[in-house]
Amino acid sequence: MHRPDMRSLTLIANHKLHGSRESLTAYIHALDAACATLSDQLQIMLAVPHVFLSHAMSARAAASRLHITSQDVSQHAHGAYTGEISSAMLAGIGVTHTLVGHSETRSRLALDDGAVARTALQAQASGVTPIVCIGENLGDYDAGNTHSVLSKQVESLREVIAAQHPCLIAYEPRWAIGSGKTPLMQEIAGAHSVIRRAIHNICDGEKLARDSAIPLLYGGSVTPANVHEILALPEVGGALIGSASLEVSSMIAMASAASALLERK
Ligand code: 13P
Repeated sequence: MHRPDMRSLTLIANHKLHGSRESLTAYIHALDAACATLSDQLQIMLAVPHVFLSHAMSARAAASRLHITSQDVSQHAHGAYTGEISSAMLAGIGVTHTLVGHSETRSRLALDDGAVARTALQAQASGVTPIVCIGENLGDYDAGNTHSVLSKQVESLREVIAAQHPCLIAYEPRWAIGSGKTPLMQEIAGAHSVIRRAIHNICDGEKLARDSAIPLLYGGSVTPANVHEILALPEVGGALIGSASLEVSSMIAMASAASALLERK
């Protein structure tokens, strides 16, 4: 299936707790070279551990299209929060995007939806674009509660969605992360429609342009084998990819599939 209105796609490689300075350098050089030949409408981001952010930014080619992204950021501007980094610190070294509320971060730090929203607002206030992750757990999925959980999570992001600064929303069903399982394609499409409707309800008439400007990404066991089918779904504006992004050849294969989809429009 193809969306006639498809204008751009975003692919984010989330490297989680993987890699070294050396392996990251080689990865960036290879991805940079491959990106140069792909559709201009494809945005590619790479979320690296904090300690590698500066290095990753300087390892890019001069005309690189690769956006280096943080994997998380503090909800606080400053203070006695040992081990945290602030969005102003990210902005200060030129980082433009950060993941917020990834399910692994939510679990590790016991973050609720309110804390995730505050973190996203803090990022926006520093000029850093949050990529906010939402998604149901297996119990909610099995109980048929996916849509109500997603509507509630989007509602908790009301101020983030209504803010002037951009944001992205990534739908990652918790049970699909790292499990090799994905929802059925119609379930992914249905979840994205629910998220879009919930965003639409938050945005009043004047902000409709803003509504459609919030890209929705799917994440959870995306691979070179399923990326084309997922990206072709209505409302899916990209993918957030963990394990399958670690090998650069696999990431390039997925970026090429996305580019081909864009060029066929
Ligand atoms: P996997 O692609 O390994 O399932 O991870 C998804 C994810 O958590 C991306 O942020």
